[in-house]
Amino acid sequence: MSLSPDEPVVTAISVEERVGSPDITVVVPCYREVDNVEPLVCALEDALTGRDWEVIFVDDNSPDGTIDVIRRLARTNWRVRGICRIGRKGLSSAVIEGILASSARFVAVMDGDLQHDQTRLGDMIDALARNRCDIAIGSRHVEGGDNAGLANAWRHALSNGGIRLAQMMLPVHVGDPMSGFFALKRDLFVRTAPRLSGQGFKILMDIILSAPEKLRVEEIPCTFHPRNAGESKLDAVVLLQFVGLILEKLFRGWLPLRFIGFATVGLTGVGVNLIVMMLLRSVGMDFGLAQEVSTLVAISSNFWLDNKLVYSDRRLRGMRLLGGFLVFLLVCAVGAWANIGIVQLFRAKGEGLGQASAAGAMIGVVWNYAVSSTLIWKA
Ligand code: GDD
Ligand code: MN
Repeated sequence: MSLSPDEPVVTAISVEERVGSPDITVVVPCYREVDNVEPLVCALEDALTGRDWEVIFVDDNSPDGTIDVIRRLARTNWRVRGICRIGRKGLSSAVIEGILASSARFVAVMDGDLQHDQTRLGDMIDALARNRCDIAIGSRHVEGGDNAGLANAWRHALSNGGIRLAQMMLPVHVGDPMSGFFALKRDLFVRTAPRLSGQGFKILMDIILSAPEKLRVEEIPCTFHPRNAGESKLDAVVLLQFVGLILEKLFRGWLPLRFIGFATVGLTGVGVNLIVMMLLRSVGMDFGLAQEVSTLVAISSNFWLDNKLVYSDRRLRGMRLLGGFLVFLLVCAVGAWANIGIVQLFRAKGEGLGQASAAGAMIGVVWNYAVSSTLIWKA
């Protein structure tokens, strides 16, 4: 990297006063938050005065140059660290990587858009340090909390629905399980990490549902402020990932979320196939050709949905999308061949058509999923 003319050349290693890692790491997932990074660092400096802390921003290579601001601040301030992920995406998985990069005793997680009230961080850490709880949650839904910053009535309805659903599943009562503002001891997180789903936005729920023991929760009242700059990243995919997280936890990790998504997309493909087939037949197309065309349309729509929803964090674009589609066609062809083979085998053994078809479809979808996950949408 070349230096700009007015930048001094470093000729000696500067001696750092600081030795060892701080006591608290604040992990901040961020995507397209270029105008929020510096105000957040200033806010944390005020809120955590007198405490031993650092902040780790985890950015997914945002196109707005968020990581450049983080790096510029990090050059002169040891409290600021950054992780830039390339080819990976998602709030929850960003939080996981950020916490795993920490060596502190306590970790806190908060958004990078100043919606969370950083002045409550001290109370959250104290609740942990005094061993009052295993996880301290910044909560909008306890006495003294406030949810004013949620953008509109639709988001309120969504949030309340999500809370109801979450509360039915959680082993402990949490007033605000949808919060993205919380703190816990790093070693508890590390013990939990292998079981996390890491999908979507709701990492707090993921942690409570995946923890090796029932957690003691303390909720600290917080105000959820309106966003500082930029816009929310919550979209339909994120909502589906929330439903997926719930399903995955209901199945206790035996059925991975991706598989559930993949199989559901597969089912929509059956519908697409039938509808296109009927349409083509109704305009008089010959049966064989109509079958081929409708199969191709169904495979294409499956591929598109898988790329958009099931593998949204590894989404293919451009030439890789085209290459992926060709491999997908091949994989589906082999899957269909295995499917038919199994159906015939079961029929030959005297099984009913229903059982034989179910077994064939099962083998087909497991094959398609296994190969797609390893060959097309690689981790
Ligand atoms: N690294 C990374 N990658 N960060 C992301 C991504 C991603 O794909 N998507 C979102 N973020 C970051 C945002 O930049 C922001 O700092 C934080 O995660 C929250 O995202 P927002 O897009 O601001 O979400 P929100 O305000 O709609 O939802 C938040 O509010 C909920 C309360 O209703 C989330 O923080 C939830 O966790 C919180 O519970
Ligand atoms: Mn936000």
